[in-house]
Amino acid sequence: MKDRIILHLYLAVIAGLVGAILVFMKESGWLVFGAIFLIVMVFALIREALHDPVEDFEPEIDLTQPLPPGFGRALLEEMPLALIVISPKGRVVYGNNAAINLLPKLEVGDHFANLFRAPAFVDAVNAALEDGESSSVSFMTTQGGDRYFETRIGLVPAGSEFGDVVHAIVEIEDRTRHRQAEKMRSDFIANASHELRTPLASIIGYIDTLQGHAKNDAAAREKFLDIMGKQAMRMQRLVDDLMSLSRIESNAHIAPKDPCSLYDIVGETVAAMQPLLPDGAVLDNQLPSKQISVRGDRDQINQVFVNLIDNAVKYAGTGPIEIAEAAPNPNYPNMCGISVQDHGPGIEKEHLNRLTERFYRVNTAQSRTKGGTGLGLAIVKHIVNRHQGALQIESALGKGSKFTVWFPLQENISIKSVA
Ligand SMILES: Nc1ncnc2c1ncn2[C@@H]1O[C@H](COP(=O)(O)OP(=O)(O)OP(=O)(O)O)[C@@H](O)[C@H]1O
Ligand SMILES: [Mg+2]
Repeated sequence: MKDRIILHLYLAVIAGLVGAILVFMKESGWLVFGAIFLIVMVFALIREALHDPVEDFEPEIDLTQPLPPGFGRALLEEMPLALIVISPKGRVVYGNNAAINLLPKLEVGDHFANLFRAPAFVDAVNAALEDGESSSVSFMTTQGGDRYFETRIGLVPAGSEFGDVVHAIVEIEDRTRHRQAEKMRSDFIANASHELRTPLASIIGYIDTLQGHAKNDAAAREKFLDIMGKQAMRMQRLVDDLMSLSRIESNAHIAPKDPCSLYDIVGETVAAMQPLLPDGAVLDNQLPSKQISVRGDRDQINQVFVNLIDNAVKYAGTGPIEIAEAAPNPNYPNMCGISVQDHGPGIEKEHLNRLTERFYRVNTAQSRTKGGTGLGLAIVKHIVNRHQGALQIESALGKGSKFTVWFPLQENISIKSVA
């Protein structure tokens, strides 16, 4: 706009000068110059007010003309959605970049049914090719694990870049992760409700008994109130664990920033748990007197070790539980590890990968009688992930269990030996 005003200014000066020269002899040249200058400037301002700024950026496009050759294909190529084009005979004639990434075995020239054999998909593409019917189909395949796809099938008219006949075009969306997330959410709700329903049903049952035939039985009342108290505590623990899980998840993507002294925090946790140990259990803190500074959330680090020590106490029975500095491990480069090791019955290998799943328990009945909700290690895993660390689980039947938590050593970390 500035450029155009300057141009009009020049025009006004030139027009004014020419006018002034032409009438120089008869009138006052400067008056004529001023009048013409003003007229041209007013004209320029009116034009500017009516000007469409979009014209500055976009060249004029004649929308009645066909798009340049190759434009359609270039557009398909860059589409983020996976698209394939299928000939009337059912051969794949084109797959864009997203389709090649999504379906590595996509080959131009292959029959489309080689991609997905799901009958719903095959029928829908045939219906499009034979009867010109557009449709949307969802289906599951089991090739390479369960995968869920959503497809929309439409038509490319004759005379397109793909030739003189109508082709089918298929948009393919991989919904596997979405479905898994949905399933996890519904499993979680089902598990949580189940865990709450059992103690609740038990409390309601005892209330009925106390209001009914045990109304005047003092001994039964004592006993039932005790059981009800335990069930209520179990529900409270579950609600606490669920809330703490949801709190951790809500800031999972924000890495902790505050520097804190790792061994000191763990030392404090161990000391705080000493008086709560059952008879025969021994907590042995073997951490050296070192200042290891990590960027972490003090309360969450404390919770990690409370949960691990609690498990060792609960499942290993009596015997020493050692808290120790882990030897450097090439699988966890630039990290420092602290292990919690017990000498209990250990865990079978097949369970190890699943221990951190919510509500997963090796022996549900045993965990419940010990007051477990099956969320302790899921909480540990979430906290460790938030700290960009790792949880290593080593265990074998009859050989005890060792849970090692690795925290990243950051550039500005300070390791000073004070021993
Ligand atoms: N040190 C261990 N020795 C043997 N088994 C263990 C040990 N730690 C955990 N497990 C097994 O892993 C399961 C999952 O542990 P997790 O801490 O997540 O749940 P929980 O202890 O049952 O309940 P919560 O910790 O929520 O009270 C336990 O039920 C138990 O079967
Ligand atoms: Mg536990």
